[in-house]
Amino acid sequence: MIRSPHTDAEWAAYFYLRYQILRAPWGQPEGSEQTADEAQHLHFAFFNEQNNVMGVGRLDQINAQTAQIRFMAVDAPQQSKGIGKSLIHYMETEAKQKGIQQIILHAREVALPFYQKLGYQLDGPSHLLFDEIQHFLMHKLI
Ligand SMILES: CC(C)(COP(=O)(O)OP(=O)(O)OC[C@H]1O[C@@H](n2cnc3c(N)ncnc32)[C@H](O)[C@@H]1OP(=O)(O)O)[C@@H](O)C(=O)NCCC(=O)NCCS
Repeated sequence: MIRSPHTDAEWAAYFYLRYQILRAPWGQPEGSEQTADEAQHLHFAFFNEQNNVMGVGRLDQINAQTAQIRFMAVDAPQQSKGIGKSLIHYMETEAKQKGIQQIILHAREVALPFYQKLGYQLDGPSHLLFDEIQHFLMHKLI
């Protein structure tokens, strides 16, 4: 089931998965996975039947027509089972309901084929994270 975390424990699990997958492998401290403005954005977690968080993603509305997907992460043993795809589809549906017409994102190079399969088009290289992870700007009209 995909929904926003509700309880303190669910929020902790949500941010911890983000930390574990997107920050810890690069030696970043816990807390570095969060931005100052988390409360302003929409958060989606994939819960398994035991109510464990298996995947996460954040949807930021940029303007009336555009939203950005950020902090996509699936628990390592659960990757390649369709969780990432269902999170993206869910966020696209939410975005559409808000009148959003375009989603943008900055993908890590390893994730490019994942987003391309889901219909995102490559615009070109964007920023370098931690001096080593090249990101690429992508977009999709929804
Ligand atoms: C990238 C990530 C979010 C994808 O989620 P996932 O649950 O593993 O992916 P899914 O199983 O939903 O994959 C959907 C489709 O994309 C394909 N795919 C996923 N990752 C892929 C990859 N690295 N290379 C090629 N294809 C890939 C799958 O084969 C699948 O294809 P199918 O629909 O034909 O079966 C997840 O693997 C992850 O968290 N990776 C590490 C962190 C990361 O890089 N996050 C993205 C930051 S921009």
